[in-house]
Amino acid sequence: MPLVAAAAVATHDVLQRRHSLLRNFPVIGHGRYLVEKIGPELRQYIVAGNDEERPFSRDQRRWVYASAKLENNYFGFGTDNDIEHTTAYPIVKHATFGRVAPPSDPHAGHEAWVPCAKVLGGARGRAAAFRPDSVVNISGMSFGSLSGNAVAALNRGAALAGCLQNTGEGGLSVHHRHGGEIVFQIGTAYFGCRDDQGRFDLARLKDVVAAAPVRALEVKLSQGAKPGLGGMLPGAKVSAEIAAARGVPEGKDCISPSRHAEFDDADSLLDWVELLAAETGLPVGIKSAVGDIGFWRDLADLMAGTGRGVDYVNIDGGEGGTGAAPLIFADSVSLPFRAGFSRVYAVFAERGIQDDVVFVGAGKLGLPDNAIVAFALGCDLISVGREAMLAIGCIQAQKCHTDHCPTGVATQNRWLSRGLDPTLKSVRVANYIKTLRRDLLKVSEACGVEHPALLDADTVEFLDAGSACTTLRSRYGYQPGWRQPSPETREAIVTLMGRTAPRGGSALPSPTATG
Ligand SMILES: Cc1cc2nc3c(=O)[nH]c(=O)nc-3n(C[C@H](O)[C@H](O)[C@H](O)COP(=O)(O)O)c2cc1C
Ligand code: SF4
Repeated sequence: MPLVAAAAVATHDVLQRRHSLLRNFPVIGHGRYLVEKIGPELRQYIVAGNDEERPFSRDQRRWVYASAKLENNYFGFGTDNDIEHTTAYPIVKHATFGRVAPPSDPHAGHEAWVPCAKVLGGARGRAAAFRPDSVVNISGMSFGSLSGNAVAALNRGAALAGCLQNTGEGGLSVHHRHGGEIVFQIGTAYFGCRDDQGRFDLARLKDVVAAAPVRALEVKLSQGAKPGLGGMLPGAKVSAEIAAARGVPEGKDCISPSRHAEFDDADSLLDWVELLAAETGLPVGIKSAVGDIGFWRDLADLMAGTGRGVDYVNIDGGEGGTGAAPLIFADSVSLPFRAGFSRVYAVFAERGIQDDVVFVGAGKLGLPDNAIVAFALGCDLISVGREAMLAIGCIQAQKCHTDHCPTGVATQNRWLSRGLDPTLKSVRVANYIKTLRRDLLKVSEACGVEHPALLDADTVEFLDAGSACTTLRSRYGYQPGWRQPSPETREAIVTLMGRTAPRGGSALPSPTATG
C-alpha cells in the first residue's frame, strides 16, 4: 500500500508543472517544502536565524518567492533585524508632509509603471535612443550558464513585465526570442558577433541586432564576481544550441579571453563604442566592476573633453553572482556595489557630466532596501540577476558550477531543465519585478517624491549599531547638488508619473480642516 501511494505521488509530481523541484525529484522533493513550511519554528530553537544565510537570507528569499507567487509578502509582528547592533544599517527617511500622497490601499498600483528618468542614448542623440519602460531589468546571465528553459522564462517574463533582458555574454539564442526586449552583451569572446577565428565581426553584430528586438548594446569589461578573469565552457556542455548562439564549434571547449581585442584603453574603448553606436544606431553602455579608479577618471575626462561617450555605465558589485568563479575572486576582488558605484558616480559628477549618462547598478539590488540605497546613490536603473533566478525557482543550493542544479535553472542537463516550465515561471518573474517596482514607487511616495530617481543623497542614513547616524551624502562624500536630476529631467519624469500616479492618501477633509 505505501508503495502504491508513493507511486501515485511520484506520477503526480512528474506530471505537474508548478514546482520544478518536484518534477525533477518526485516524492523526496516534498521534504524541502515541508522544511520550508516549518522552518521558522525549527530555526527559532535549533538552526540559523532569518537573516543569517547568504548570499540571500531566508527573509529575503521568502520575500522574493511570495512576491513571485503573488502571495502575502508582508511580515508580521515587526522587524527581526538586529537594528540596534548592526553597523551601516540603512534607514530611509520618510516625509511627513511630502509633495506626493501615497495611495491608501496597500495593493494599489501593483501594475505601477516606473520608467527610467532619463532617455537612454538621448544625451548623444543616438538614432534609436529610448526611455526604458522599467527601472528594474534582468541582468546579463548567459545561455550556457542558465538553461534554455530558464532563459526563455526570463525572456517571456521580461515581455510580461515590460522590462529589458540582458543576454549576458553567451550570444542571443532561440530562448531569447519570446517577445522580451533585449540588451545584447558583447564580451571578450564576441560570442554571437564573431568570425570563425573568434575576431569581432561587425556585419554579424548588425545581423543579430536586425533579427531580434535588441534595444541597446553592452560592452562587458568585467563582472563583480570574477573581474579580470576569462572563462571556459567545457566542450561537453557546448550543445548544438549553445554553439549556434555563440558562433563556436559544437562539442569543443569554448574559451572567453580575459581582455578585449578591439580596444586597450579608455580612448580606444570610446572609439569602439562610437563605432558600434554609429553602425547600429543603438545606445551603447559598458558593464564593469570597480577596482582601480584611474580607468574611470580617464574615461570621464575623455567624455567631458571630446564629446565621445558611453550612453550608460552599469556597475556590478563585488558581491554579485556568477555561474562559477574562484573563491578569492568571488570573495575579495573588486569593490562591493555601494563603495564602487559611489566612487564612479563621483568621478562623473565632479566633471559635471552625470546627467549625460544613465547609471545602472547590480549586486543584490533586487531587494527593496538595497534598491532604494542604489537610487539614492545615483542609479537610474537596477538590474536583477540571482533574485530573478529565485523567482523562477532557484532554491540557493549553490551548485550552479556543477551542472547539477536541482531546479533546472543553471544546468544544461536535459532532465533537470525539463522540470522548469518557462510559461509558468515567466509569470512568476514578472510578478516579482512588478512587485519590486511597486515597492520602489511606494517608498518614493512615502518620501514625498514621484519617482525613485528623485530620492536624493539625504534620503538615506546609515545607523551604526543603534547609535551614530551618518547620511548617505556624508558617508560617500557626495557634494551638494549631486544626485539631483537636471531641471528638465525632473520636470519630464514628474509629468510622466503624474499621468499614472495613483490618487488618494486621506479621506475628505472635515469642514473645520485648516490645511
Ligand atoms: C548564473 C549567472 C550568470 C551570469 N552571467 C553573466 C554574464 O554572462 N555577463 C555578465 O555581465 N554578468 C553575468 N552575471 C552577473 C549578473 O549579471 C549580475 O551582474 C550579478 O549577479 C549581480 O546581480 P545580482 O546580485 O542581482 O545577482 C551572471 C550571474 C549569474 C548568477
Ligand atoms: S544550483 Fe542552486 S543556486 Fe544555482 S541556480 Fe540551481 S538552485 Fe539556484
